Amino acid sequence: MTDVILETRDMSKEFKGFTAVNQVNLKVERGHIHALIGPNGAGKTTCFNLLTKFLTPTSGSILFNGADITALKPAQIARLGIIRSFQISAVFPHLTVMQNVRVGLQRPLGTSFHFWKSDYTLRALNDAAMALLEEVDLASFADSLTADLPYGRKRALEIATTLAMQPELMLLDEPTQGMGHEDVHRVTELIKKVSSGRTILMVEHNMSVVSGICDKISVLQRGALLAEGTYEQVSCNPQVMEAYMGNTTGVLEGAH
Ligand SMILES: Nc1ncnc2c1ncn2[C@@H]1O[C@H](COP(=O)(O)OP(=O)(O)O)[C@@H](O)[C@H]1O
Ligand SMILES: [Mg+2]
Repeated sequence: MTDVILETRDMSKEFKGFTAVNQVNLKVERGHIHALIGPNGAGKTTCFNLLTKFLTPTSGSILFNGADITALKPAQIARLGIIRSFQISAVFPHLTVMQNVRVGLQRPLGTSFHFWKSDYTLRALNDAAMALLEEVDLASFADSLTADLPYGRKRALEIATTLAMQPELMLLDEPTQGMGHEDVHRVTELIKKVSSGRTILMVEHNMSVVSGICDKISVLQRGALLAEGTYEQVSCNPQVMEAYMGNTTGVLEGAH
């Protein structure tokens, strides 16, 4: 039996009669890195916004650990452990790297997350922040001004601030977007590393990232699920090739 952490049931979203997401049934398994891919306009971002409660489905439902979260607000699902990392780096440029992680650690999420305010000393907070920086390979940048970091390192910091909120499920919207080859590699390795003991659902365009680290892939086209499976399974699916390349002879590698 599979252990499903996040499930959507016939999830749909209409914008003034236009169906952007059409009866999508997703099952994200606990411990997986699960990718949502599809051509431009397929409904990936809309799906993502529905899952993170920035949008409300027109119909259908969303379950987290078996509980219906369809009517909850973003802050409420964050408290449950669903943390979204923003597409645009959501870190404060004029704080140091260390200060940004500390802000993440102190972000009010609910009573259980306030333990350090009573008992933990400043020192413990710094230790926790440093441990997170080490996890994302940023310890040597602790005192650097965030604005001065290379782009890929900013994404690593963003992942650290997301980890600070103790996610059970991390949602990443195009984590490697706009990156050069080296940064893509570093961030991909980082996602793989931090996925240990967690579940990650990511929207991703870069097929080498998807093929390299994702356990399962759901392909969207015109708002509906077109195919699902491992990279090997979906990349040789004729319908998927057609959706991406307009023919069935091309390869998915390098598609956008
Ligand atoms: N707020 C909105 N109002 C109207 N149409 C929208 C809105 N958001 C998205 N759409 C439409 O829904 C479709 C899916 O968009 P989107 O989810 O952004 O696709 P993707 O992220 O896969 O490129 C597109 O045709 C887009 O124009
Ligand atoms: Mg999008």
